[in-house]
Amino acid sequence: MRLEEKVSIITGAGGGMGRVAALRFAAEGSKVVAADNQPDAAEETVRQIRADGGEATPITVDISREADARAMVDVAIHKYGRLDVLYNNAGIMPEADHSVLDTPVEIWDQVMAVNVRGVYLACKYAIPRMIENRAGSIINVSSFVALVGCSVPQDAYTASKGAILALTRSLAVQFAPQGIRTNAILPGPVETPLLMDWLVRDEQAKKIRLARNPSGRFGKPDEVVSLAVYLASDESAWTNGASLVIDGGISVNYF
Ligand SMILES: NC(=O)c1ccc[n+]([C@@H]2O[C@H](COP(=O)([O-])OP(=O)(O)OC[C@H]3O[C@@H](n4cnc5c(N)ncnc54)[C@H](O)[C@@H]3O)[C@@H](O)[C@H]2O)c1
Repeated sequence: MRLEEKVSIITGAGGGMGRVAALRFAAEGSKVVAADNQPDAAEETVRQIRADGGEATPITVDISREADARAMVDVAIHKYGRLDVLYNNAGIMPEADHSVLDTPVEIWDQVMAVNVRGVYLACKYAIPRMIENRAGSIINVSSFVALVGCSVPQDAYTASKGAILALTRSLAVQFAPQGIRTNAILPGPVETPLLMDWLVRDEQAKKIRLARNPSGRFGKPDEVVSLAVYLASDESAWTNGASLVIDGGISVNYF
């Protein structure tokens, strides 16, 4: 198993790619702290892991809140004694996030609070525990929208995902001497509730994303999680500060 003996925190583990990641990490031998702001969703993820013989603990966390981020890391330490992997997966993309011209300030702040402050807070409490072991892997979920503009804008979301890339590089440089690697995954459009709930209502956005993707399809959660398993494992011991795009080719498509 590729993650045997490891302890991993996964945020947003109650749905979408986070749940798929929690199940895969557990199947690869990791103990998983499944954090989500939807208590039932986190518990269902853990139920599925345990049914498959894996080890996991649910925790209800609004990752934009400092006390919740601290409690999440404390649970990993108290329950499993160490922390090897922090998978900052939780993210939001509200429908009211559009162009800077019409996105309400409250929506901008909400997106930044979850997508950027949440990563900062989780790192703030996880990194000191990783330093104790002189080892750790931080996986930050950005997006292909951090690299390319889009005529169907989501400006707060796009800015938040760009911030994650910059923070990833800073952490990679700061903490590599203490054995901690920090990398970013940039998925293209993937079939999860986050994307599909929106595209069901916006036919134009759906058409653009499908037409522009040389692969002709959306990604599957498992395809992204495979990259995360690599980053969590010791196979990626010399991968640090990388921005790894996994998008079927959409971000390199000129026409
Ligand atoms: N789906 C895509 O096409 C796509 C593409 C690129 C990047 N991403 C990114 O991948 C990550 C996962 O996306 P997904 O598509 O699986 O999303 P999703 O909406 O399907 O699942 C996100 C999970 O995060 C949880 N969550 C939301 N706010 C939270 C908070 N404040 N605290 C804790 N948990 C919270 C939700 O309850 C949910 O279980 C996100 O960061 C997203 O921005 C998604």
